[in-house]
Amino acid sequence: MGATTDDAVGGIVDLAAMGGQFARDPYSVYARLRAQGPVHRVRMPEGAECWLVVGYDEVRAALNDPRLSKDWANASELVGLPPVAPGPHMLITDEPHHTRLRRLAAKEFTPRRVEALAPRVQQLTDDLLDAMLAAPDRRADLVEALSFPLPMGVICELLGVPDLDRTAFRHWSNTAIGSAPPKVKAEAAAEVADYLARLVADKRERPGDDLMSALIRTTDEDGDRLSPRELLGMAWVLLVAGHETTVNLISNGVLALLTHPDQLAGLRADPGLLDNAVEEMLRYDGPVETSTFRFTTAPMDIGGTHVPGGGELVLVAIADADHDPARFPEPGRFDIHRDPRGHVAFGHGIHYCVGAPLARLEARTAVRSLLERCPDLALDAHPAALTWREGLLMRGPHRLPVRF
Ligand code: HEM
Repeated sequence: MGATTDDAVGGIVDLAAMGGQFARDPYSVYARLRAQGPVHRVRMPEGAECWLVVGYDEVRAALNDPRLSKDWANASELVGLPPVAPGPHMLITDEPHHTRLRRLAAKEFTPRRVEALAPRVQQLTDDLLDAMLAAPDRRADLVEALSFPLPMGVICELLGVPDLDRTAFRHWSNTAIGSAPPKVKAEAAAEVADYLARLVADKRERPGDDLMSALIRTTDEDGDRLSPRELLGMAWVLLVAGHETTVNLISNGVLALLTHPDQLAGLRADPGLLDNAVEEMLRYDGPVETSTFRFTTAPMDIGGTHVPGGGELVLVAIADADHDPARFPEPGRFDIHRDPRGHVAFGHGIHYCVGAPLARLEARTAVRSLLERCPDLALDAHPAALTWREGLLMRGPHRLPVRF
């Protein structure tokens, strides 16, 4: 059994019972756990139990530990959560399958393709801000107005999905990766799978110059290709990872600026700080709170605690690593002048985020344009009144009311 803490009852820390309070401020809970040791048995807000790794060094080690498999075939039946993807993809495969998928994706998901998107990202941002600024009462929910539609629009264009029913997709995807009961999640995942199967069939018939069409025809040096199920998995992971995350980088980042007026003023005075400010946003309140699922393939010792093999579920608290004072002094201070390099907001090791350059491009464009267009941007709610997404994976507010 894991290290027992003040929060543990019967050896289990019940994060589910902490409810909205935990969703609002998981950092202080993780910090308390870290003070007791690097691994704990917890009940997730989603209901299942898992081992949670905290602390910068242990988090980095776990993210890159080949004994922690990402393949659901290695999951114990007791994990009790269904895999939700319509096909194999990078986040649910290990080497060598993962290596192959990643190579095929990297061939098409190139820095050049991302750079080429910059004018479109700017155009989409400008259009969204035009619409937002037209509101007669000079108020908006920034999530609806910018944080959600920008990444969704970008990933849809990148993949060549212009007519995607974005509201329906958002609902399915939020449900499939959120804290809904397993049956509801499975239904949502099935709807996404149907939708993507139609999309892939359509692209096969009418290929364009988009990423999805490229992935359909791509062939690597060995004549390797994505199978039909792998294509569905790839489309799913890019669409979901492409919008569930960046939405929260924009929202959490703008919220950090609006609740730290000195930092906001500093950025307005020196826009050259923007790139560093976005890195600090990723460190201070990043979109991905814990990693995706990993399963033990062998007994492990993490910081003196025995974690059994046999497919035990392990989650890695990225949010805590980036708030570990041993790595980032005064981690709870949002400071756009600090050196936030080394943060693990995009993960670490072989599963390091494929979309990091795109996410950075979107966040920089969104924040720069928002500040330029709204010289008096302010939060239109008390920060404590914001409600946060439940579930361990993603971190972000449901709504972000602003006035300008
Ligand atoms: C701010 C935005 C983003 C953040 C914070 C983020 C974070 C992450 C993290 C932490 C991982 C590793 C998860 C793990 O090891 O369990 C990851 C992997 C991944 N991300 Fe992102 N991501 C972001 C945006 C994107 C975008 C825009 C895309 C696609 C267009 C994307 C696609 C992926 C994919 C495909 C993987 C799996 C890579 C692999 O397993 O080899 N992400 N991301």
